[in-house]
Amino acid sequence: MNKLAENWLYQEYQQTGKDYASLDEVTVYDPVHDDFRNIDAEYKLIEEWLEPDKSCTWADIGCGTGNFSVYFAKKCDKLYAFDISETMLEFAKQKARSQLLSNVEFQQVGYLNMNLPDSSLDAVMSSLSLHHLPDYWKAKALENIYRTLRPGGRLYIYDVVIPDEQGDAAIQAFIESQAERGGDFLREDTLIHFREEYSTFDWIMKGLIARQGFTLSREVTEDGVLKRYLCQK
Ligand SMILES: C[S@@+](CC[C@H](N)C(=O)[O-])C[C@H]1O[C@@H](n2cnc3c(N)ncnc32)[C@H](O)[C@@H]1O
Repeated sequence: MNKLAENWLYQEYQQTGKDYASLDEVTVYDPVHDDFRNIDAEYKLIEEWLEPDKSCTWADIGCGTGNFSVYFAKKCDKLYAFDISETMLEFAKQKARSQLLSNVEFQQVGYLNMNLPDSSLDAVMSSLSLHHLPDYWKAKALENIYRTLRPGGRLYIYDVVIPDEQGDAAIQAFIESQAERGGDFLREDTLIHFREEYSTFDWIMKGLIARQGFTLSREVTEDGVLKRYLCQK
């Protein structure tokens, strides 16, 4: 990017919506997510889609509390765990230390400023974090990921994505089902998500993925607004 124009760059270290720099938020993150996620099923699907092996190098961008980084580090040669939040990274590092992992490299960087060499990764995981960027910056993030993946490399995206039709109804239904699963806290969490973060339409996500040059090889929708995409360079 042109150095003279740096002042219009997106400030990706700024928290949007949920404040994941806050120790209180980070401490409750795993138990709250357990109310609506089946993390073991997510591991299984990622394993099927990305096919790790002992020689591969992956990145987990927006790694949060580090569950996916730690789980897949055991199946890879090297794993980069990136997040903009120092608090999240501290939690993730603690998990890696407790499991005596030495092949995870943690960096306090984000989608836009991570700077790995071209074609250096076999796969990238992006789980519930791309929606922290507005759409133009999602495109720039995908450009950076594409550059960093080797030819044939794979990108897994899991995120809250609004369906092309009946978006309002899908959002409302999801808010209600989250409230049933996790009470007032998860309801408020979901309201903040739609009000203050940057979830976008499925057609925009697919357009961004395709325009960047990725082939979309798999997609799954759950609960109306939860989408998983498998993209290949
Ligand atoms: C909802 S959590 C997801 C954590 C984890 N990947 C998961 O699936 O549970 C979102 C994470 O994205 C991080 N994040 C926000 N903006 C980011 C950016 N521009 N680059 C990388 N990570 C970012 C937040 O700090 C937070 O840890």
